[in-house]
Amino acid sequence: EDRKDSKVIRILELVADYYHNALKKSPHAVDYLKSRGVSSRSIQKFRLGFSPSSEELVNFLRKEGLIDAYEKTGNLVKIDEGIYRDLFTGRVVIPIRDERGRCIAFGGRVLYEGKPKYINSPESEFFKKREVMFGLYEGKEHIKDMGFAIIVEGYFDVISMHDEGYKNTVAPLGTSFGEEHAKLLSRYTKDVILLFDGDSAGKRAIRQTAPYLLSQDIKVRVAYLPEGEDPDTLVKRDKELLRLLLEGAKDIFELFIKMLREGQKEALKDLVYFAGFVKNKVYQHDILREASQVSGFALSALYDQLPKVQRKEE
Ligand code: UTP
Ligand code: MN
Ligand code: MN
Ligand code: MN
Ligand code: MN
Repeated sequence: EDRKDSKVIRILELVADYYHNALKKSPHAVDYLKSRGVSSRSIQKFRLGFSPSSEELVNFLRKEGLIDAYEKTGNLVKIDEGIYRDLFTGRVVIPIRDERGRCIAFGGRVLYEGKPKYINSPESEFFKKREVMFGLYEGKEHIKDMGFAIIVEGYFDVISMHDEGYKNTVAPLGTSFGEEHAKLLSRYTKDVILLFDGDSAGKRAIRQTAPYLLSQDIKVRVAYLPEGEDPDTLVKRDKELLRLLLEGAKDIFELFIKMLREGQKEALKDLVYFAGFVKNKVYQHDILREASQVSGFALSALYDQLPKVQRKEE
């Protein structure tokens, strides 16, 4: 990596410290985090912060002589001579770390209600959203030890899951899960549980995510949350229910076969679609053979329906 990058990385860590210290002096922001049940331990572990005002950050950077250098991250926008705007003003700040633990960007959430609810640092040479998973640095050893990863949708899902002992939890950064994420994860595990929000977006996310994982030879299990709930709310409301849902998470193909057995014929199309992404052809054959037996469709007909081009594969 070049020197320019390592200088920016160093500044980002300083700014993360600044935000973290500012949070401790901002009762309103601390109250917000407490109101949603974020523990002090989580605040420390993820070094959560708060941006009180653009001026305070600028004063801090000016003292360090770092304004121009930091401006290059895009997190600080020059409005006029000597006047800057911190993108994260008034927000809880979540440092985003790469696999090696280096702070490369920030996420920011408004306190309580407001739009947009979340923002992220702009993309740059060293921050490419689609190559980063939140929680991976903190969770990678746990993923290896436990033998699987849990994928959730949001920052606070990761934070709360880790706090309650599910330290193998990671999330993409507001973007949808993609090929780079799957490649990154496949270096640590070949087994994941999708634990997405219990809403229509969560269900769409399963369809969107599974092909990338299957293409990397990763086994996909799915746990469905109750309607209106996300991992953050459920782990705090009913940890035992969450435990049962995770324990009962079924392989995505097992789910389709079960639906077929229950007479849901439309599951066959989905099964064949997802089977198309399975790398291991022996495993793919097993899936299709079982689907053929359960549905009564000829195996050759199912093979004919496999998606021809696996665009999500390469
Ligand atoms: P959700 O809407 O489920 O938010 O979006 P959340 O994580 O549960 O948020 P809280 O609990 O209200 O704080 C899931 C993820 O999508 C991204 C964020 O990364 C969020 O965590 N997102 C959501 C955005 O990037 N921008 C938004 O405005 C909303
Ligand atoms: Mn501290
Ligand atoms: Mn949601
Ligand atoms: Mn959510
Ligand atoms: Mn949430």
